[in-house]
Amino acid sequence: MLPDGRGLPPGSGSVEQGKVIYQQQCVACHGANLQGGLADRLIGGRGTLANDDPAKPPMKTIESYWPYATTIFDYVKRAMPLASPGSLSDDQVYAVTAYILSQAKIVPADIVLNASTLAAVRMPNRDGFIPDPRPDKLPAIDKSPHKSLAIAPPPAK
Ligand code: HEC
Repeated sequence: MLPDGRGLPPGSGSVEQGKVIYQQQCVACHGANLQGGLADRLIGGRGTLANDDPAKPPMKTIESYWPYATTIFDYVKRAMPLASPGSLSDDQVYAVTAYILSQAKIVPADIVLNASTLAAVRMPNRDGFIPDPRPDKLPAIDKSPHKSLAIAPPPAK
């Protein structure tokens, strides 16, 4: 599954459906208001990662940090809930993703997420990442110990 949505499965889910799943399967660790608890805070902190205000320490969440909404689907589908990863259906993952994004006020409460509406969501920190200005300091791909991780170019049109 790629950031632009290629590889997202069919299916869909609403904020209302996601709220039910969240309350049954996520709330114990991520908190009633997605504020965190046993596990990470999921929302809040927007604008705290790049500022000079000592009163606004960095708070890293989906809302403040993640550049692509599609990553929420990918991550939750593979890794959550912690004790039974992979147990949620694609519809359930779309729904809980819709709930998280609506609680973060990134999407409206009446949105229904599917492969195309999720790929169209623009995250608040989308432009917060800059290319490394020192590409000459990176090893050439064929010299890299991680060449298997090199990102494949998009297919030719
Ligand atoms: C038993 C506790 C537990 C439950 C239940 C749980 N999570 Fe998590 N979640 C975690 C932990 C621990 C992490 C951090 C994992 C790591 O960093 O490797 C995490 C991380 C995440 C992250 C990534 C946060 C970030 O900023 O990196 C997301 C998104 C997430 N969980 C969503 C969910 C959703 C959606 C559900 C319900 C379907 C859920 N979790 C249920 C414990 C839980």
